[in-house]
Amino acid sequence: MAKKLRVGFIGAGGIAQGAHFPGWDALPDCEIVAIADIAKGTAKTAATKAGVPDDMVFDDYKKMLDAVDLDIVDVCTPNCYHKAPVIDAFKAGCNVIVEKPIAVSRKEAEQMTQAGHDAGKLFMVAQSMRFSDNHLAMKDWVDAGYVGDIYWARASYLRQRGVPAWGAFIVKEMSAGGPGYDLGVHILDLCLHMMGHPEPVTVSAGAWLELSNKPSIMKHDPKRFTVPEEFVAGYVRFADGQGISLETSWAVNVPHGSGAMVFSGTKGGMQNEPLTLVREEAGMLVNTTPTINPYAGIASHSEEIRLFVEALRTGGSSPVPGEQAIMTQRILDGLYKSAAKGKEVKV
Ligand SMILES: NC(=O)c1ccc[n+]([C@@H]2O[C@H](COP(=O)([O-])OP(=O)(O)OC[C@H]3O[C@@H](n4cnc5c(N)ncnc54)[C@H](O)[C@@H]3O)[C@@H](O)[C@H]2O)c1
Repeated sequence: MAKKLRVGFIGAGGIAQGAHFPGWDALPDCEIVAIADIAKGTAKTAATKAGVPDDMVFDDYKKMLDAVDLDIVDVCTPNCYHKAPVIDAFKAGCNVIVEKPIAVSRKEAEQMTQAGHDAGKLFMVAQSMRFSDNHLAMKDWVDAGYVGDIYWARASYLRQRGVPAWGAFIVKEMSAGGPGYDLGVHILDLCLHMMGHPEPVTVSAGAWLELSNKPSIMKHDPKRFTVPEEFVAGYVRFADGQGISLETSWAVNVPHGSGAMVFSGTKGGMQNEPLTLVREEAGMLVNTTPTINPYAGIASHSEEIRLFVEALRTGGSSPVPGEQAIMTQRILDGLYKSAAKGKEVKV
């Protein structure tokens, strides 16, 4: 077997332990050898789970980068603390995978991506929704030409009462934004991925905060809720006329939640839940639902990590390169700017 790739974590909380650790564990040619987390208790728990010895646990990630020879750094800090660890890890000669959203501004995203290029290292943004079973199948439909050119998408990720009660999600200083950064980034990335990353031109959006900053049936502490929104809806226009209609919430009064992604193309259409392809066949408009999805049961985070390592081993390109995440970030920046100004903005 090829030399094992040595992985170090920066930030080892919920998503690291719950989704990234199993991804690395599933790869026999990789091992988690070091962990850095500013919260000593979290670092200790994570190290025990990953089988990392005490002398490879750090409360300062810079000490880890100085002391440990690493091939890969996996950054799972809150959104506002992605930039510095990613750039420092590149400077230390490591390849980097970072959780979504890449950053909290276009400028940060560009600096991080450039740092990867300057170091000549692989950079992937962990846009895990691309790698779930239905979304992998949908991309196969697109690549096989069944959908044609996608000119419109409706991206919906609505929680009725789902404000995160744990971690840093609702704290502005750590996360910058609410469901836009948490969920909106997933569905925007998925749309751009399916549509072939067309050039965005303008965004018009509204954002609301009516339910989450006061006592409610939800479990989070409303006093901690300092991000600007609990619900954002908008429309993105692209240079060649394509459009995305997007809506995402942690809390909103609608009859039911939604994770529905619908795409309309020149040859057909498709949606994720239930997985359906619609197109004309023999003079009929036919909905097709696969009986067997070859990707059924795939764990999206494990798949993203597997693909990252495959690209590293083969010299392939990043499964989610910084350039694609910069484009998503430009749209996100536009959503917040448009909502604050109350008018359409250029991205
Ligand atoms: N893809 C997904 O489905 C998904 C799901 C949840 C979270 N996330 C993303 O993962 C990131 C982390 O979220 P989480 O839920 O794991 O949060 P978390 O609060 O559970 O964990 C973050 C950890 O980072 C540590 N940390 C903060 N600053 C640090 C620093 N400078 N150096 C080292 N450690 C530091 C904290 O102590 C904490 O343990 C966020 O960007 C979030 O958007 C992605």
